[in-house]
Amino acid sequence: MTYVVVENCIKCKYMDCVEVCPVDCFYEGANMLVIHPDECIDCGVCEPECPAEAIKPDTEPGLEKWLELNAEYSKSWPNITVKREGPPDGKEWDGVAGKLKYFDPEPGTGD
Ligand code: SF4
Ligand code: F3S
Repeated sequence: MTYVVVENCIKCKYMDCVEVCPVDCFYEGANMLVIHPDECIDCGVCEPECPAEAIKPDTEPGLEKWLELNAEYSKSWPNITVKREGPPDGKEWDGVAGKLKYFDPEPGTGD
């Protein structure tokens, strides 16, 4: 199994999660992060760190789409291990439904 980043990360991108991962397996897109499913050691440390509750174990039902997205984009987006300032309007997007349509496939800057 692995942990996956899900919809509520989009446009919130708080980045608290990257600081705690012991294997540095977060990858940065323009407006969300993903976890590399083959690198994640399932420690679960990042899950409670996300203020947006956007990190879930893939054992939760209905996350197939997100697991696929994490697997696909972690191959090409840059690695991120250091928290930066998130988007200035990040908090306004926290909990907004239907954010998948705002997903940006462009890579972020990474560390
Ligand atoms: Fe990293 Fe552990 Fe979170 Fe996996 S579960 S992404 S290894 S902190
Ligand atoms: Fe996203 Fe939560 Fe990390 S909003 S960037 S998964 S702390």
